[in-house]
Amino acid sequence: LPPSSLSEEILAWYDRNARDMPWRLGPKARREGHRPDAYKIWLSEIMLQQTTVAAVKPFFARFVNRWPTVGDLANAEASEIMAEWAGLGYYSRARNLHVCAKEVVENHGGAFPRTAAALKALPGIGDYTSAAIASIAFDEAAPVVDGNIERVITRLYRISAPLPGAKPHVKEKVTGLTPKDRPGDFAQAMMDLGATICVPRSPSCLLCPAAEQCEARSHGDQTAYPVKAAK
Ligand code: ADE
Repeated sequence: LPPSSLSEEILAWYDRNARDMPWRLGPKARREGHRPDAYKIWLSEIMLQQTTVAAVKPFFARFVNRWPTVGDLANAEASEIMAEWAGLGYYSRARNLHVCAKEVVENHGGAFPRTAAALKALPGIGDYTSAAIASIAFDEAAPVVDGNIERVITRLYRISAPLPGAKPHVKEKVTGLTPKDRPGDFAQAMMDLGATICVPRSPSCLLCPAAEQCEARSHGDQTAYPVKAAK
């Protein structure tokens, strides 16, 4: 089967199984063509960098309630932001959050730039986060690669070169699979697949929309991937 059909299977699975998250649009809003709020996507992606979805949810709700727009956050006192962040850890994220909000207001007229390349120039936004925001909020087919997606891809293609060296190869595969019409949904589908089905120790291949095209599954060695370089 051509790669496009693999992407279609994964998107169809996402349409049935997408996890409900406060920063995602519901199925109805998506059908009606609404766009996610880039501010909420940015805020959630920064919070999710080193923190689980379950832990992020209450913090995300308090932040958007107190500061509904990037302009509101830019106008906050640094000390207020640090106090709301307390408990999430990795406090450089909170400092960068404030600096980034102020840059968006001062240098971009209060609207997040719409490309991965421009987003990556902002504080706290690296390779992963720029691609995630550009694809989810602005429909740019930027390849999104996080730890979950690395696991899905190295199993699908049975990539045995160790990470992080194999990262460009993984990225190339993600680029090839990412559909131009729904890049953000595809990225989030891959994240959900890695978080709920293609899990590290005991993947639920019987429920996986990509099982028939998974090279590791056909060899029965799914849990050997990803291979990681010795530390
Ligand atoms: N982890 C980081 N970003 C995510 C997202 N948009 N959906 C699910 N898990 C995530």
